[in-house]
Amino acid sequence: MNIVITGSTQGIGLGMAREFLARGHDMMISSRRADAVADTVTRLRRDFPGRTIAGWACDVSEYAQVQALWEQALLSLGTVDIWVNNAGRDGAKMPFFAIPAEDMILTVKTNLIGLMMCNKVVIPGMYRQGSGWIFNMEGFGSNGMVRPTASVYGTTKYALRYFTRAVSAELEGTPVKMGYLSPGMVLTDMLVPPPEERGERWQQTRKFLNIMADTVETVTPFLVDGMLKAERNGAAVRWLTRGKIAWRFFSARFCKRDILTPLGL
Ligand SMILES: NC(=O)c1ccc[n+]([C@@H]2O[C@H](COP(=O)([O-])OP(=O)(O)OC[C@H]3O[C@@H](n4cnc5c(N)ncnc54)[C@H](OP(=O)(O)O)[C@@H]3O)[C@@H](O)[C@H]2O)c1
Repeated sequence: MNIVITGSTQGIGLGMAREFLARGHDMMISSRRADAVADTVTRLRRDFPGRTIAGWACDVSEYAQVQALWEQALLSLGTVDIWVNNAGRDGAKMPFFAIPAEDMILTVKTNLIGLMMCNKVVIPGMYRQGSGWIFNMEGFGSNGMVRPTASVYGTTKYALRYFTRAVSAELEGTPVKMGYLSPGMVLTDMLVPPPEERGERWQQTRKFLNIMADTVETVTPFLVDGMLKAERNGAAVRWLTRGKIAWRFFSARFCKRDILTPLGL
């Protein structure tokens, strides 16, 4: 199959790209930075010889750039069987009144306008092809949970779940299917601040992450297998279920999990 993942030069997007390639699928890599796209494509071609791996820089919040990404994907891969709307940012973690306006706008533009731009281009494209799956990446807030300092990010991810519900209902009975992806908490640049920004609460955060978080290598095989197995429009591939969360907290009393130390965190 042929796969496009937005925001696939690092983190969860890159992890999913590797897992698709390892299962014999072909890839279009993308993010805003052309140099990061070129480096990623070079590394993946070295690691997965024999696979078709293309790259194209695209800011998902710009309609013309998304259209160009779709067209390049068709030129390089022929068709697009799965498109993953993964590109995202969390922005400044502070009370809403203190978040700089530009930061707020960038988060909304990336997570929400970007999601809509991509679907505006991809849905008609997949109709023309006669088939295709789109998966939208959820995040903190998708289930309605609230945390101070995550108001903007949480709002975009809450809206993403609504949008996916609404649009997948519209797609019912058509050749295009849409689903949800939820990775839980994954140790990427988005979740782990650089050392100079960790602050005095880092040890507490670290304890929490050791209970709840996972590595890209643990979560992405699950996400990719879930996407490849999905059958029904509206399918949800979710890593951290309520049961798993309860078990993590319960078992933390008896068994100390440490996934951060081996990563030097
Ligand atoms: N990490 C977690 O714990 C977690 C949990 C739940 C959900 N998620 C979601 O999972 C997705 C990936 O997160 P991650 O942790 O892997 O983040 P990450 O490591 O920060 O990677 C984000 C990727 O998105 C790209 N990107 C950012 N803005 C973009 C834009 N406007 N257009 C195109 N690409 C853009 C970045 O590359 P450039 O900067 O080069 O554009 C990068 O490749 C996000 O949607 C996030 O909300 C993450």
